[in-house]
Amino acid sequence: MISRRELLRLSSIALATAGFSSLGQRAANAAKTYAVGKASTVPVKGGKTFSVAGRSILITQPSKGKYRAFVAQCTHAGARLDGSRNLRNNVITCPSHGAKFSADTGAATSGPASSALGKVKVSVSAGNLKVTF
Ligand code: FES
Repeated sequence: MISRRELLRLSSIALATAGFSSLGQRAANAAKTYAVGKASTVPVKGGKTFSVAGRSILITQPSKGKYRAFVAQCTHAGARLDGSRNLRNNVITCPSHGAKFSADTGAATSGPASSALGKVKVSVSAGNLKVTF
């Protein structure tokens, strides 16, 4: 017969193996929300790249009041995407090799990149942009 203590020990090993090593670790991996800046600084059909918690985040406004956010890194070879320089009329164009992405969905619309930009959750509150990742 297995003791209660042994059962708990074996359960903790099983949980650790399954990736649930501790509640503290899970909390450390939880998404955080960051204040970015004024929504009014992002032009309609354009965008702006912000530095947020050490990451470059490209926020676009495909139509008035509708915001999208992406990791500002080309999925072809990692070039940085600058919203002010590389985004016109809802098309993000990579400065390195010319891949094009939708400013609404982040989808790659022209090579050499074939994968969509990484999406980031964005919200607006009282005219201020917030992102969560
Ligand atoms: S790094 Fe963007 S197209 Fe190559």
